[in-house]
Amino acid sequence: MAGFPQLRLRRLRRNEALRALVRENRFDAGDLVYPIFVVEGKGIKQEIASMPGILRFSPDRLDAEIEEVAGLKIPAVLLFGIPEHKDELGSSAYAPEGVVQQAVRRIKKLAPQLLVITDVCLCEYTSHGHCGVVVGEEVDNDRTLPLLAKTALSHAEAGADIVAPSDMMDGRVKAIRESLDKNGFQHIPILSYAAKYASAFYGPFREAAESAPQFGDRLSYQMDPPNIREALREIEQDIAEGADIIMVKPALPYLDVIRKARDSFNYPLAAYNVSGEYAMVKAAVSQGWLDERRAVMEIITAIKRAGADIIITYHAKDVARWLQSA
Ligand code: PBG
Repeated sequence: MAGFPQLRLRRLRRNEALRALVRENRFDAGDLVYPIFVVEGKGIKQEIASMPGILRFSPDRLDAEIEEVAGLKIPAVLLFGIPEHKDELGSSAYAPEGVVQQAVRRIKKLAPQLLVITDVCLCEYTSHGHCGVVVGEEVDNDRTLPLLAKTALSHAEAGADIVAPSDMMDGRVKAIRESLDKNGFQHIPILSYAAKYASAFYGPFREAAESAPQFGDRLSYQMDPPNIREALREIEQDIAEGADIIMVKPALPYLDVIRKARDSFNYPLAAYNVSGEYAMVKAAVSQGWLDERRAVMEIITAIKRAGADIIITYHAKDVARWLQSA
């Protein structure tokens, strides 16, 4: 067995050509998904204080943003809607003229080859801000399912390419699959937020999407952060119900869960580098404490190395640009 001084691991690190030759993980723009917030109304293009560089667009103001994303060869966007009207049952989520439905139609017209993924959840649409129907102080799982199925179907009818349920109700993938299949959308895949943790890192998103719960928290439906075996059971259940792509969310505090999911299931795996992860980087960069490009590329590399095939990130446009200039 060779040891030092015959063995020198530094030999393969001497220059960039050698390092590139033995590089174990790579990613390109084709692995990325860019989230976009669409707000009901006209002529709106609004900054989000806690997410510098991310805006909220009304459907009529999306054109330049979509052109940019498509031009950077990012294959997909993930849409979140902020409706004008909220109620107990989140009815704007499944309105045929809802904000996401309008945005989907517009984007498919502007860039037909760009995949449009829609977040299927009620939290942005309910007056109480929970991801399901509230009965008393409880989020009622079974009463929520038909509304989620209706929402996913209305997204598919508007032209969505993939629907992505993020509510964490039991049985939602099955309910959505049945409703899509019954209505001629057998070909539309479901990307399920299968292992979604009750995370502090969604904070900035809730400001962006106006979806903070008005009472209580999401601990009774999203996963408890210490658990990993349970994440595998969540994923197993979603696959059994018909999920085509599975997701772990957030990404950075859950790289071990991503790795375990990669090793346990032969399904395409997505990881969501969420709003709080983005905000932390932006805050440090604005203070001059981090080199943004190096920090972000390292973060995306880490998520890839953990085993994600698809990375949903607010950094997607920057990453795609940096990859082009590398
Ligand atoms: C629910 C949803 C949330 C996120 C994506 N879908 C928020 C939540 O569960 O409270 C968070 C995404 C992020 O933080 O970037 N519709």
